[in-house]
Amino acid sequence: MTTEPNSYRTGPDEKGLFGIYGGRFVAETLMPLILQLEQAYKAAKADRSFQDELDYLLEHYVGRPSPLYFAKRLTEHLGGAKVYFKRDELNHTGAHKINNVLGQILLARRMGKKRIIAETGAGQHGVATATACALFGLKCVVYMGEVDIERQKPNVFRMKLLGAEVVPAKSGSRTLKDALNEALRDWVANVEDTFYCIGTVAGPHPYPEMVRDFQCVIGNETRHQMMRQEGRLPDSLVAAIGGGSNAMGLFHPFLDDKDVEIYGVEAAGHGLKKKHAASITGGKPGVLHGNRTYLLMDEDGQITEGHSISAGLDYPGIGPEHAWLHDMKRVNYVSATDKEALAAFQLCCKLEGIIPALEPSHALAHVMKLAPQKPKDHLMVMNLCGRGDKDIFTVADILGVKL
Ligand SMILES: Cc1ncc(COP(=O)(O)O)c(C=O)c1O
Repeated sequence: MTTEPNSYRTGPDEKGLFGIYGGRFVAETLMPLILQLEQAYKAAKADRSFQDELDYLLEHYVGRPSPLYFAKRLTEHLGGAKVYFKRDELNHTGAHKINNVLGQILLARRMGKKRIIAETGAGQHGVATATACALFGLKCVVYMGEVDIERQKPNVFRMKLLGAEVVPAKSGSRTLKDALNEALRDWVANVEDTFYCIGTVAGPHPYPEMVRDFQCVIGNETRHQMMRQEGRLPDSLVAAIGGGSNAMGLFHPFLDDKDVEIYGVEAAGHGLKKKHAASITGGKPGVLHGNRTYLLMDEDGQITEGHSISAGLDYPGIGPEHAWLHDMKRVNYVSATDKEALAAFQLCCKLEGIIPALEPSHALAHVMKLAPQKPKDHLMVMNLCGRGDKDIFTVADILGVKL
């Protein structure tokens, strides 16, 4: 389907499809669980007390609404659009991941599940899951690639402090995709008591829809805050994409506002002709982790390793709704290299006094390209979806500084 729909916000269909993407490609053992989850989510969505409990936690535990901040010095430096940061890095645990995790953990409790499993790349989703499990006294097991365990040590320690067991994924590239494989394997083996808390808008239906819904708080707040501060909607939105949850959360509430330009920024790593993690820009459609979407693969259809300076962006796939929005040409998918992200990271520190995570530094790198081309009354919002505390070791290493 490539004709323009009445609304870009109605998906997925009852089979969990966004156009030809998404779906539910899972082992037979998992099917009853997935269907049970879908029913439980539908019931929770219709229950006001579920949303009330989530809203309470988002306000009083997470610290929402996160501010919408006018980045004045950066705006002056770039000399074009008025750049705003949606400050999701100010959330408890330091990233947007907690928005989704709290929703899923409340759902797990409704379903009577006592054991939670999760996969994590940069560790932010793992930390968020470990946090929510500590809050509710649930057992927590987090799968994490061996390589990521090494480069995101502070988050590994955090998870352990919070009482989670961190299990290294030792196969393949030993990063996020392998952690996801291990988590799915665990889920198949422990179907009775275990809830799988997925960290991005990927996986089998209903995960892409459910995670999107929980992350839409980002875009809903942005809409309201921009109306209050500027009296109108933003002209453009920019967000970084690993699996695509922070981006979808910002974009979704604006998808039907045709005048709002939308940019999703993938990780171009060493460059699109070399090693990268730009699944849409440099991949093609295939099936992985329970859904059909754009994936990085070789000529034989084998999934290839993604590379990014940022552990949160090196997933070799992207959420299926993004794949559809790309085909529909509603969202522009672009990319930024490791080098560009690092330069953006440094600029943000110096000009705004904010140390961003390396993930949103990719979004900022695109803002640096785009903002100077826009007039001064153009309102641009970038999702600053994580803080850089976890990345200072990686950055110091690259800059040749010994900590
Ligand atoms: C701070 C931060 N931003 C972005 C991402 C990428 O995930 P997503 O594309 O689902 O927002 C991660 C993943 O770990 C992250 O930690």
